[in-house]
Amino acid sequence: MNFDNFSSIFIANWKLNGDIQFIKEYYQKLIPSNNNCVVVCPPNIFLHQLKTNNSNLFSGAQDVSIYNEGAYTGEISAAMLNDNNIKFCIVGHSERRQHFNESNKAVNLKSINLIKNKIIPVVCIGETLEEKEKKITKDVLLKQINESIPAISNNQNTIIAYEPIWAIGTGLTPTLDDIDEVHSYIRNIDKKFNKFKILYGGSVKSSNSADINQIKNVDGCLIGGASLKVNEFNTIIS
Ligand code: 13P
Repeated sequence: MNFDNFSSIFIANWKLNGDIQFIKEYYQKLIPSNNNCVVVCPPNIFLHQLKTNNSNLFSGAQDVSIYNEGAYTGEISAAMLNDNNIKFCIVGHSERRQHFNESNKAVNLKSINLIKNKIIPVVCIGETLEEKEKKITKDVLLKQINESIPAISNNQNTIIAYEPIWAIGTGLTPTLDDIDEVHSYIRNIDKKFNKFKILYGGSVKSSNSADINQIKNVDGCLIGGASLKVNEFNTIIS
């Protein structure tokens, strides 16, 4: 996808929330702005209920199988998502890494399957509070990037989302300087990441999103809790 037409990318991660009535009301009120790319990621069963326009409003999945087909009860493949007009898929979210033992290797495989099916993996990386306190954030991110992002990834087919785990759902965020430093570090790990879109996630709200988005190395946000309140999300994406 050519992201150059967009000023910023905003991805709503609804996690395990939402129902049909919620979606109806949400899309009556949602105002996607023309110059930003907006992606809404509901639980898979609701993907079909969402409105998309294939220009600035898209739907995304929150996960995908590492398998392409076969006897894997409960799984959904990248080809199936593609068949349903899904253009984005979050992979390696810390909640999946933590609760479902998702490894860097699995994230890498999932990303390859997605890219081959013309879906953009949004690869999540981030450090725990303990790792931050031990001052090993950069080492942790380097390992996650090296192992999770496949060789076939480029700035048109893959997005990176930096989500410090200690900032998710806590109301805490790194300072603006710290976000800039980490994003700049990621960008410079390898020449190929220079032009990647790098999103920030973790306690993004309408009250801090403008400041975060102004950071030079931030290309948009991945939003959890605040994306469930449509008026708040409208402010973030406006
Ligand atoms: P919060 O915005 O609720 O902190 O969640 C962030 C997140 O995990 C998005 O993927």
